Amino acid sequence: MSDLAAVLDEAWGLLARGGLVTVCTVSGGAPRARTVVLRETDRAQGRVGFYTDARSTKVREITENPQVALLIWREPAQVQLRLTGRATVETGLTDLWQTIPEDRREPYSHQPAPGTPIPAADAWEEQPAPEHFARVTVTLDTIEHVSLANSGHTRALFSSRDRWGGQWMSP
Ligand SMILES: Cc1cc2nc3c(=O)[nH]c(=O)nc-3n(C[C@H](O)[C@H](O)[C@H](O)COP(=O)(O)O)c2cc1C
Repeated sequence: MSDLAAVLDEAWGLLARGGLVTVCTVSGGAPRARTVVLRETDRAQGRVGFYTDARSTKVREITENPQVALLIWREPAQVQLRLTGRATVETGLTDLWQTIPEDRREPYSHQPAPGTPIPAADAWEEQPAPEHFARVTVTLDTIEHVSLANSGHTRALFSSRDRWGGQWMSP
């Protein structure tokens, strides 16, 4: 792909399909990474979002330092996307909670809270509680697209600062 606009289109197209994404937060000075499911994309606003438990460690880290990085590798497109941005956390989303089927609420319903030490592997239970449900929205600063397609390796960096105009980089 030799057209920067088409590369950015592909990046947003891949994001819009959802799927798994690695989210990295900063804990003190150290990075922490975990997998989440990408739930929302809004190209006009330059935002992506995922759902989580408001009591989770990642939420505490975002509250302390909103800078995050997201990492995605997509087959068969052979594209890596590296995103950076600032995250915000929303709770009290009763209407959104109601749209989640009961059998899909388990990830946000663990008792005791996620990350709490427990005496045995099964010493926790499911207690659905909408007040623990949170949406994390990341307002993107940069999108880096790296393609390993057979047609030729490319790397392009898009930044909100230049209205997502894009810049080719040596891969
Ligand atoms: C395939 C997969 C999908 C996951 N999806 C989510 C998700 O959408 N939201 C979430 O909070 N945790 C999700 N998790 C769990 C997180 O990776 C992580 O273990 C958990 O949220 C605790 O992270 P923390 O201690 O950094 O807060 C998923 C894990 C896997 C393996």
